[in-house]
Amino acid sequence: MADKIRVLLTEEEVNKRISEVAEQINRDYAGRHVHLICILKGGVFFTCELAKRLDLSVSLDFMSVSSYGAGTKSSGIVKIVKDLDQSIEGRDVLVVEDIIDSGRTLSHLMKILNERKPSSICLCTLLDKPERREVDDVNVDYTGFQVPDEFVVGYGLDYAQKYRNLPFIGVVELGED
Ligand code: IMP
Ligand code: MG
Repeated sequence: MADKIRVLLTEEEVNKRISEVAEQINRDYAGRHVHLICILKGGVFFTCELAKRLDLSVSLDFMSVSSYGAGTKSSGIVKIVKDLDQSIEGRDVLVVEDIIDSGRTLSHLMKILNERKPSSICLCTLLDKPERREVDDVNVDYTGFQVPDEFVVGYGLDYAQKYRNLPFIGVVELGED
């Protein structure tokens, strides 16, 4: 049975907003080198689209984390599945994530990364679900869109590993038919 996907944000809306966020980053980091850390797998589409629009000196690294927890609830205890290839010490780091939900994963991850002594560290997320936040120490510097408390897919976000490739953001409507 195919899932129904309702469009929440069109491809045009997402791309336009990514250009706006990139402009903001271009202004804030003018004349500096920015080291992007893409959080796999969800952050990969956003990272690429954002990086293409940055008019700065840019390098990229990738990290994959999984959150231990009972059932579907994020525990915030982060297991590093794939660590960075390069040191971030002394660098201006920008972490690029697909979505902040409870915030537990990012809260823990930012602590781990801070211990590695970057010169600065900021957080950029395509989507934010502020209603779902369970921690108060996640400071989001750049946000694409705030979205309601619905399960979204596309542009890197998955439902059971599917739909990451959709060029828009949609809501999965679990069909009864
Ligand atoms: P947090 O620790 O609750 O903030 O977990 C965030 C992670 O949960 C994200 O990086 C996503 O991988 C996943 N996630 C949260 N909400 C959604 C959603 O609506 N669609 C797809 N993945 C989601
Ligand atoms: Mg993620």
